[in-house]
Amino acid sequence: MPVRAFVFDAYGTLFDVHAAIARHRGRAGPDADRISDLWRTKQLEYTWTLTAMGRYENFERLTARALDFALARFGKNDPALRSDLLAAYRKLDAYPDAKDTLRALKQSGFITGILSNGSPEMLQAAVDAAALGDALDHVLSVDALGFYKPRNEVYALVTNTLSVRADEVVFVSSNRWDIAGAANFGFKPVWVNRAKLPDEYADLNPVAVIDSLSDLPALNL
Ligand code: LAC
Repeated sequence: MPVRAFVFDAYGTLFDVHAAIARHRGRAGPDADRISDLWRTKQLEYTWTLTAMGRYENFERLTARALDFALARFGKNDPALRSDLLAAYRKLDAYPDAKDTLRALKQSGFITGILSNGSPEMLQAAVDAAALGDALDHVLSVDALGFYKPRNEVYALVTNTLSVRADEVVFVSSNRWDIAGAANFGFKPVWVNRAKLPDEYADLNPVAVIDSLSDLPALNL
């Protein structure tokens, strides 16, 4: 089927999740990068464990709880830093090529969108801060469903809202587990592997692997 839509994961794909710690690196101290990595790891772990248990807390709360764990793990008891990191997370930097790539796809006639675990309010704040709004047709959040990726029902938000078939959608994510979920649902997944990570989820493959978002418009999918 010809491609009709390009839909993007938000955190880690369009927005740099490590931009928050980068803004407060001096105050975070020598463990800054480890704190940021653990913050992200725990944030995702909480989405998977709650979803497996049939429970839900929105992504903003999970983001705060994950930061609390990461700061405690590295002995940082600094309420002002905690508050500033959470504020920074609402205004993460977009990757430098995000806006031009979205614009190019939209100008070529494709539907563009975000499908994210983020709560609607935090997604809107991030989109506004990065000035991506005019390049996006849809910003879809799991929040209305009350569970997280990679459940099939989450990816079905795209096909239901956009009135497209799964195989008409290119789904772009830097998270390999999210690519696996998108492949399982029937999307055409494109993995942005900026960190050159080894492959995994061997039976649930991307249709293409790219180094950066700017590689997308030239792909023949
Ligand atoms: C998201 C997380 C998975 O934006 O990065 O959905």
